[in-house]
Amino acid sequence: MCGTVGLFMGCSAVSLCPKQALFARRDDETGTAPEGAGRDAAGRDGQEPDRTAEDAYVSPFRNWYERSTVRSAERRTLGPLTAGQGFFAPELVPLASHPLIAGLRDERPEIYRDVLVRHLYRYLDFTAKLEHLVVNRTVLGIAHGTIGVRLPEAMRLDAFKIYCDEAYHALFSADLAAQVRAATDVRAELPEVPYFITRLERYLEETPDDLTALTEILFVIVSETLITAQLSDMWNDRSVAPAVREAVRDHALDEGRHHAYFAVFLRHLWGQLTPDTRRRAALRVPRLIRIFTDPDIPSVESEVVGYGLSRDEARQIVSELFPAAAVTAYAKSVAQQTVRHFASVGALDDEQVRAEFAAHGLL
Ligand SMILES: [Fe+2]
Ligand SMILES: [Fe+2]
Repeated sequence: MCGTVGLFMGCSAVSLCPKQALFARRDDETGTAPEGAGRDAAGRDGQEPDRTAEDAYVSPFRNWYERSTVRSAERRTLGPLTAGQGFFAPELVPLASHPLIAGLRDERPEIYRDVLVRHLYRYLDFTAKLEHLVVNRTVLGIAHGTIGVRLPEAMRLDAFKIYCDEAYHALFSADLAAQVRAATDVRAELPEVPYFITRLERYLEETPDDLTALTEILFVIVSETLITAQLSDMWNDRSVAPAVREAVRDHALDEGRHHAYFAVFLRHLWGQLTPDTRRRAALRVPRLIRIFTDPDIPSVESEVVGYGLSRDEARQIVSELFPAAAVTAYAKSVAQQTVRHFASVGALDDEQVRAEFAAHGLL
């Protein structure tokens, strides 16, 4: 968390940081507590836990010790590919579907292979950074009770399990990328800071101070409840390297539990916000969804240039691959369940909030 300051957004969300909370407590004891200490991420004063909610919580992690990937799956190792096998399903790689690139499949198979490998790198890098730099920052705060959301004890304990899961997802993603690099000699050439983090960082900069920590929490709820159904099609796709499809499957099975958890977490969070904060928070959700789902156009464009095409051709390819309507349709389809969760807590009852979701193409 705090070791990643240079890469992410600094400690703007210090209220999430257990270490910071410990310092605050120590300052408190010495009578030097900073102004605002003792208030939580949502700006509320400390209150007693909600016992009714505690009684109702049924943990999705009841079999975690037996079922989670980190506890039960073996390391996924890359073996030699059989004829016709690739490093990703081509139909899930937008660039591979463009006629100028698809045409290379027979003419320049080595370049076509690189397109799939680079997509895999982008996916694995996205996963590793999302887990380490974004999700686990918040999960750590949930586990240690420093984000100011009152939760049943069992939910806090489950956050320790999620933290392990996400850390392992980051590890096996980095491990798989390293194995593919060793096997193919294809360099990743990805931006040091992934696009979604840059976008989130910018959005947090323009977020009112009192909503910054809450916005980060909402981004995690969004990212943990979006569903990319397409990836599950890859589990049984024999044309994809077994290590890749097994890793995707491992991840998706863990994330099913996370999804269930964060749907419950949202209910706890929402119930503890004031009506005004709920409305202001809900207005931010559509943008957070799009920050997550919108494609990384500059990175795809420079990848195309790397294959020897001109900058103009690269621009043409990305504009044809990612027309606004297709990007919006994708966001709407993967966010269906997320939108339902926010609707179920009443977030979309407000007319302006509904308009904001609609403006982002999510209704
Ligand atoms: Fe994960
Ligand atoms: Fe997760």
